[in-house]
Amino acid sequence: SMKGSLLYEGKAKRVYHTTDESEQLILSYKDDATAFNGEKKSEFAGKGRLNNLITSKVFQYLHQHNITTHFIEALNETEQLVRRTTIIPLEVVVRNQAAGSITRRLGIQEKTGFTPPIIELFYKKDELNDPLINDVHAYHLTDITEQELTFIKQEALEINQTLQQLFLKAGLTLVDFKLEFGRLADGSIVLSDEVSPDTCRLWDRNTGEKLDKDVFREGTGNLIDTYENILHRLEESVCVK
Ligand code: C5P
Repeated sequence: SMKGSLLYEGKAKRVYHTTDESEQLILSYKDDATAFNGEKKSEFAGKGRLNNLITSKVFQYLHQHNITTHFIEALNETEQLVRRTTIIPLEVVVRNQAAGSITRRLGIQEKTGFTPPIIELFYKKDELNDPLINDVHAYHLTDITEQELTFIKQEALEINQTLQQLFLKAGLTLVDFKLEFGRLADGSIVLSDEVSPDTCRLWDRNTGEKLDKDVFREGTGNLIDTYENILHRLEESVCVK
């Protein structure tokens, strides 16, 4: 596939048309890192490559476990071919343990376990700072139906189980993560966007060390070394194809 015109530029990726196939897009991962809704910004040479390769591995693993995603294939170090979807403007967060915003919002101690996992919906809208919303808000703010939201939540829990297994093999605890879903041309909903240390909290199973974007948010470690570590662990422990 040949890269066509730029369709959209986000904080972490650029989205391009393909010249030969209107139902496919090319995602190009950038080296930029942002946190706190774009208030903290930096560039890390090599970050785009790492997130492209990590997300590709994760999506291949999900496909092996019968979870449908927009992912088709990695094209090179920083770009991947995906099926074209229209993103539903929801951030679906799944939490196995308390960390980040839920500790501040509800005063829950970090590391508190959640059984069953907590699912939270945020409305994806920069101007509003991505507010936490409930199901009925989601029906008003997006085009999803009640049935579709039920499907999205079931799928999020299934993805959680599969990813917990994957990261366990890599010596990591999956604390929480954010998913985005999109609609294919036929109206069906599939997992889109990315699954990477930018969008997951991953803690070393033995030491508890934070091995994700929190090293950037909290200024506690080297982002590139951390993401390299995650990629290496996935390469060692996960057999794809
Ligand atoms: O900030 P918060 O604790 O709500 O984040 C929960 C999870 O969702 C974390 O893994 C975080 O990396 C991810 N997230 C994200 N994009 C956002 C907000 C949160 O990937 N805009």
